[in-house]
Amino acid sequence: MPTSSSTLLLFGATGDLAKRMLLPSLYALHEDGLIAEDLRIFGTARSALSDDEYREIAREALDEYLPEDRKDEAKIATFLGHLRYQSLDASTLEGFDDLAARLGDISGGLAIFLSTAPFLFEPTIRGLQSAGLAGENVRIGLEKPLGNDLASSRVINDAVASAFDEDRIFRIDHYLGKETVQNLMALRFANAMFEPLWNANGIDHVEITIGETVGLEGRNAFYDETGALRDMVQNHMLQLLALIAMEPPADFDATSVRDEKVKVLRCLRPVTAEEMVHGQYAGGAVGGEVVGSYTDDLGEPSDTETFVALKAHVENWRWQGVPFYLRTGKRMAERRSEIVIQFKCVPHNIFAERGGKLAANRLVIRLQPEEHVRLMVMAKEPGMDRDGVTLREVPLDLSLTQAFSKARRRIAYERLLLDLVDGDPTLFVRRDEVEAQWKWIDAIRAVWSKEAIAPKSYSAGSWGPSASVALTERDGVSWHE
Ligand code: BG6
Repeated sequence: MPTSSSTLLLFGATGDLAKRMLLPSLYALHEDGLIAEDLRIFGTARSALSDDEYREIAREALDEYLPEDRKDEAKIATFLGHLRYQSLDASTLEGFDDLAARLGDISGGLAIFLSTAPFLFEPTIRGLQSAGLAGENVRIGLEKPLGNDLASSRVINDAVASAFDEDRIFRIDHYLGKETVQNLMALRFANAMFEPLWNANGIDHVEITIGETVGLEGRNAFYDETGALRDMVQNHMLQLLALIAMEPPADFDATSVRDEKVKVLRCLRPVTAEEMVHGQYAGGAVGGEVVGSYTDDLGEPSDTETFVALKAHVENWRWQGVPFYLRTGKRMAERRSEIVIQFKCVPHNIFAERGGKLAANRLVIRLQPEEHVRLMVMAKEPGMDRDGVTLREVPLDLSLTQAFSKARRRIAYERLLLDLVDGDPTLFVRRDEVEAQWKWIDAIRAVWSKEAIAPKSYSAGSWGPSASVALTERDGVSWHE
C-alpha cells in the first residue's frame, strides 16, 4: 500500500491550469479535510515571487474560480498558509539544487506535478535527478500533451523512465478523474444486468460524443499545432472507449484495470479513409451568439481540424462487427459528452401489425453537463385501443445529480491530485496505453496526409460537416441528438 506524500511540488504553478483547476482543487481537498494538515505545497515557476506574492496569486485564483458559497475566509487563509513558492529556471541545473535546499527534508515522500510545456519535461527530469529529487519516495504526475505522435511520446516516456520507475509515473487524463467516467466502471461491473448483453450479440453499435461550444479559448498556437484528433481523441475519447469495451478486470487495482484497457487499445483496427471525417468550423452562431470561423479566431489560414468523426472497430471476440462511432468538435451545437449504447432489436416483433418496426433499447450515459443514465425502453401507451397495442419509447431515468444530491460535484483534478499524493495510479494512464493510443492516431494522420484529405467546413453551432452524418447513415445509424 503506497503511503501519502508529505510534500507536493507543482511545476507551472502560476499557469492557467494551476489557477483554474489545481489551486481550487487543492483548496477543496483542504476544505474537506482530505489532505493532511501538515502537507507542504510548493509552487514553482520562472517568475521571481516571494511566498506571500504567490499566496496572493493563489488567493486571486480562488476568488475567480471558486463558487461564492464555498469561499470561507478562515479556510482560505489556512489553505494559503500551506503554500510556499520557489522560482526556478528549468533549463539550469543550479535552479534544482536551490529547489532541493528549499524543500529540505523529503523523507516523508514527495509528489511532483508537471503542468509545464512538454519541451520542459526532459530538462526538468534531468534537474530533479541531479538534485536528488527523483528517489524511491518521489512520484511524478505529467499533464498532457504527452508528445504529439508516437515517436515524440516515446522520447518523453524514455526521459521520465530514466529517472522514475513506471509505478511512480502518473500520466494524467483528466477525463479519468471525472465522477461520471469512474461511474462507467460501476455501471458495468457492479450491476449484473448489463454484462450478459455487453457484446456483439447484444449491442448493435456504440456512439461516443464529446461536443464543445467553445472555440480556441486563446490557446491558438497549441491548438493549431494539435487539432481535435490529438487534443481529444488520442486521450479522452480513447479512454472512454476502453472503459466501455474492456473485459471485467480481476480487481479494481491499477494493474488489473490498466491491463484490460490496454488490451482494448491494442485491438483497435486501423481506420480507413472512408471511416473518418474531419472538419473545421466556419462562422455561425453558437447558443444565439454570432461567432467567427476558426481562421478568423486564429488570424491566419490553417488546415487544422476542429472536428473529427470516426468509425472505430475493436477487433476481438466480444466486439466483432460492432462499430464504435466517435465524434468530437469545437463550436458544436451544444456542450455535451455522452456515450450511447445501442442494443439490438428484439428477434421477433409480436406487435408487428400494429407497431411496425420496434425501436431497440438504448442506454444513454450522459457525462456532462448533466450526469444521468437513461435506458430507453418500449412501453405500451395507455388506452383501450381495440386494434391492439400501441408502443412508445420511454426513458427509465437515473439522474445522478438528483440521486446523490447531497454530494458536491467535484472537479476531476480533486480526485487526481489526491491520488497522486496518496500514490494510487489506477486513474492514471500507463505507458503502454499512451503508446497504443498514439500508434492508432498516427495511422489516421498518415491516411489524411497520404490521401491529402483536407478538413471539411462546418458551420459553428452545428454538429459538424454533413459527411459526419453520412458516415453513420451509410450503416443505417443516426447520431443520437
Ligand atoms: C482538454 C483539451 O484536454 O480537454 C481541451 O485540451 C478541451 O481542448 C478539454 O476543451 C475538455 O475538457 P472538459 O473537461 O471541459 O470536457
